Amino acid sequence: MFGFFPQKYDGLIVRSATKVTADVINAGKNLKIIGRAGTGVDNIDCEAATSRGIIVMNTPGGNTLSAAEHTCTLICALSRHVARGDQAMKAEKWSERKVLMGSELYGKTLAIVGLGRIGKEVALRMQSFGMTTIGFDPLVPPEVSQEFGVESMPLEKIWPLADYITVHTPLIPQTRNLINDKVFSICKKGVKVVNVARGGIIDEEALLRALESGQCGGAGLDVFIQEPPKDFTLAKHPKVIATPHLGASTTEAQERVAVEIAEQFVDVAQGKQLFGA
Ligand code: NAD
Ligand code: MLT
Repeated sequence: MFGFFPQKYDGLIVRSATKVTADVINAGKNLKIIGRAGTGVDNIDCEAATSRGIIVMNTPGGNTLSAAEHTCTLICALSRHVARGDQAMKAEKWSERKVLMGSELYGKTLAIVGLGRIGKEVALRMQSFGMTTIGFDPLVPPEVSQEFGVESMPLEKIWPLADYITVHTPLIPQTRNLINDKVFSICKKGVKVVNVARGGIIDEEALLRALESGQCGGAGLDVFIQEPPKDFTLAKHPKVIATPHLGASTTEAQERVAVEIAEQFVDVAQGKQLFGA
């Protein structure tokens, strides 16, 4: 059933692709600790682990900068049709430049939903392009977000103001399909959206409809409801720049999360204080 012998091991370290299901956990007769070399623990059945008294740890800060930089890369690439320009050149179609008119980021408004580690770093970076940054986070008070230049406001006030929207929340019931048909309908026509957080925060079917109608002017997507997607319609859409969950795929982030999770395992083995989020 398993490609390895989980009953032999005391600890297990995974990245995001490995699904640590209840079956894996229950087969790990000696299992005491599961480490996630990354942020989200949604690929680990935490309930099954907890019921067996198994500790689950992650390394929430190790890939923050890489995910933030990838988000900024997608925002910039969307504003100037970088991917379509490159495709045109590879197809020897210089004349495409006529239809690839972009727009400056300077003076535009970026809405950031989720002002935690990554949301904050995205804000700081995009402010250097002259973007106005607004946002919402139920746990970050307005006076705190103001310290990093983000004006906090309720979501219903955010949607009509945004030229770009980027989401940086976990996927939880409150954030599933957060950006849906209704939200697109009250956004500016041509709003661009970016998701480097988790597939499903932007309703994929609503996004496709908004791209088709022109209500959404473009999307930068690193994450999908299903990974890898069975249906690549969204990824192939001409107004979409898609990457295969590359947010944390840098040598620096992978080294950081690997070292951090290893150190945390050693701390547990030595009976020191536990970390994680
Ligand atoms: P974080 O915990 O530091 O920040 C998340 C923030 O979302 C928190 O401040 C929380 O209060 C806020 N939030 C929760 N519910 C909300 C809601 N309904 N509306 C608005 N805000 C809400 O997490 P992070 O490290 O910044 O990570 C953000 C997301 O990015 C996570 O989903 C994480 O799994 C994902 N991630 C993806 C990649 C990638 O490779 N694409 C890499 C790292 C992290
Ligand atoms: C995370 O939650 O850390 C990201 O999805 C990146 C990863 O794949 O590890």
